[in-house]
Amino acid sequence: MSARAKSRLTSTLDTVLDRSLVLGYSRVGPALRRRWWPADPEPGCLAGQRVVVTGATSGIGEAMVTSFARLGATVHVLGRNPDKVRRVVAEVREALPGADLVEEVCDVGDLDVVRAWCADLTDRLGAGGALRGIVHNAGAMVAERTETAQGHELALAVHVLGPHLMTERLLPLLGADAGGPGGPGGPGSVVWMSSGGMYSAGLRSTPDEIEFRPVEGEQEYSGVRGYARTKRMQVELADAWNDRPDVRSGVRPGGGAGAGVRVESCHPGWAATPGVTDSLPGFDTVMGPLLRDAASGADTAVWLVATRPASAGTHHFWHDRRPRPTTYPVQRRPDPVARRAFLDHVAAATGTVWP
Ligand SMILES: NC(=O)c1ccc[n+]([C@@H]2O[C@H](COP(=O)([O-])OP(=O)(O)OC[C@H]3O[C@@H](n4cnc5c(N)ncnc54)[C@H](OP(=O)(O)O)[C@@H]3O)[C@@H](O)[C@H]2O)c1
Repeated sequence: MSARAKSRLTSTLDTVLDRSLVLGYSRVGPALRRRWWPADPEPGCLAGQRVVVTGATSGIGEAMVTSFARLGATVHVLGRNPDKVRRVVAEVREALPGADLVEEVCDVGDLDVVRAWCADLTDRLGAGGALRGIVHNAGAMVAERTETAQGHELALAVHVLGPHLMTERLLPLLGADAGGPGGPGGPGSVVWMSSGGMYSAGLRSTPDEIEFRPVEGEQEYSGVRGYARTKRMQVELADAWNDRPDVRSGVRPGGGAGAGVRVESCHPGWAATPGVTDSLPGFDTVMGPLLRDAASGADTAVWLVATRPASAGTHHFWHDRRPRPTTYPVQRRPDPVARRAFLDHVAAATGTVWP
């Protein structure tokens, strides 16, 4: 079979897996796709380079720490609970002696804490500091509408506002040359860990709707809906970051401090993690044997940071090492008015400006 025919066949197969959901999202997806997906990152390719993983104290984040450490990166293991951070660091060091890990404590849903942590990290890395990547992996599904210290709905704060502010504050480190002995230098990558659940949700246009405040005509708060909608927001946000002239322009001068930084979103499929067991016990019971492992859920984010693959075009949403549509043909694309309102709300809530 010619290379072209083979590529067409695997592309069709991959799409069929994706649209079937169960096959593509479960352990079947990577078991088949790894026969044709792009090559693994070279061992040691991140030597001398720093990566931040949020939500690193459980499930996919914990697995990601191991994967990045195996590639030689210095991994900043970020969680909100210092005991859990310490435990993960100790376990990964035991499994991988010589792993270069840094304990980081930060509640990504508390904007004041995010500001303070970013200032502290910037100070610690000093002049010439650089980040090869940040994976915004921290995630939560809450049963009832809950507010953070700054009065934002919790899922919105953890999935969207905190990571956006962190990206903004760390942009100079991400835009700096992250070159290490193990691989190419240049600017870094930001990856939002979204969810396939985002396909079920759209955006809303008023600040009350975006913050899930009780609004006439809107259904009551549901954790699943709050989760899905904020996961949709992550995908929209990654696309919006890519439209920023200061980031898009790969060549300085002309671009800002973050010129050339890649911003992506991805989803992990369905992975067996404490998060799934705790938040979706019914799903876990039914799907348990088919769930992929946490490392497989982490794979695409690690691969994106380690290899900086060619851009996915106007959308930057990936799964199993391939760009995916952000809406399916039967769905309406997010309304541009709602998108603008959402981005304006993110800027107002975090005290940032869209260039
Ligand atoms: N597993 C799946 O099948 C699946 C599917 C789709 C998307 N995802 C996404 O993948 C990511 C990881 O999921 P998982 O299944 O590994 O979940 P998990 O086992 O519940 O892990 C979530 C992590 O996020 C951390 N976290 C939550 N709120 C935080 C906060 N305010 N500040 C800092 N860290 C915080 C948790 O810390 P604590 O340990 O302190 O709670 C934990 O380390 C999430 O974004 C999730 O939405 C997972």
